[in-house]
Amino acid sequence: MTGKKVIITGVPGVGKTTVINESMKGLEESGVFYQSINFGSFMYDVALKEGMVQDRDEMRKLDKNTQKRLQQFASQMIARLEGNIIIDTHASVKTPIGFLAGLPEWVLKELKPDVIILVETDSDQILKRRLSDESRVRDIEGYKDIQDHQDFNRAVAAAYAMFTGCTIKYIKNPDFLLEKAVEEMMQTLR
Ligand code: AP5
Repeated sequence: MTGKKVIITGVPGVGKTTVINESMKGLEESGVFYQSINFGSFMYDVALKEGMVQDRDEMRKLDKNTQKRLQQFASQMIARLEGNIIIDTHASVKTPIGFLAGLPEWVLKELKPDVIILVETDSDQILKRRLSDESRVRDIEGYKDIQDHQDFNRAVAAAYAMFTGCTIKYIKNPDFLLEKAVEEMMQTLR
């Protein structure tokens, strides 16, 4: 297996996909190439084909064992890819019956990440970004719930580091400072 495997996480709406896309553009200019893979899209393609969901926001409400099976499928497919890979996913997923680990043992064994990045910002900014995104069916929750989710992600990331030996990096993506987040992301990916 060649290349670097970088897992990038963050609560929905924190802006991880935005930071990833801008960083990939910047890195390409200096001759560093990554392929970005959305873990949720691999899960969604199967869930849609099997008639379990109609949009990606329904996936976190599926039965726990179904989500586990979709995770297993996605990680096995992604593990086959060669080269530098960014995996855009979640450290944990908020389900109706509690937080579900996004990177449990059966996923980490396949992906073997070099680093796991947590993109974060103040929870009131995340709330505002979610409210202005009409393309998605986001959970309605307050900024304190969003903060709880970010705190849980830090806690569970420590377990992932213990299990794999990878490093954990926090990158802040505050309002008006996207360029700074992109610069830090590019340094980590180089
Ligand atoms: P996924 O597709 O990853 O959905 P998501 O978490 O909702 O991610 P988004 O891409 O919508 O949000 P984002 O944080 O990337 O924000 P964006 O860049 O768009 O996952 C879908 C589903 O798949 C999950 O819900 C789950 O069910 C499942 N799944 C995935 N991985 C899984 C796993 N491992 N295990 C189990 N299930 C899994 O930005 C948001 C907005 O913010 C934009 O409007 C943007 O312009 C704005 N913005 C960004 N940065 C800034 C800034 N610095 N200042 C101001 N505005 C900003």
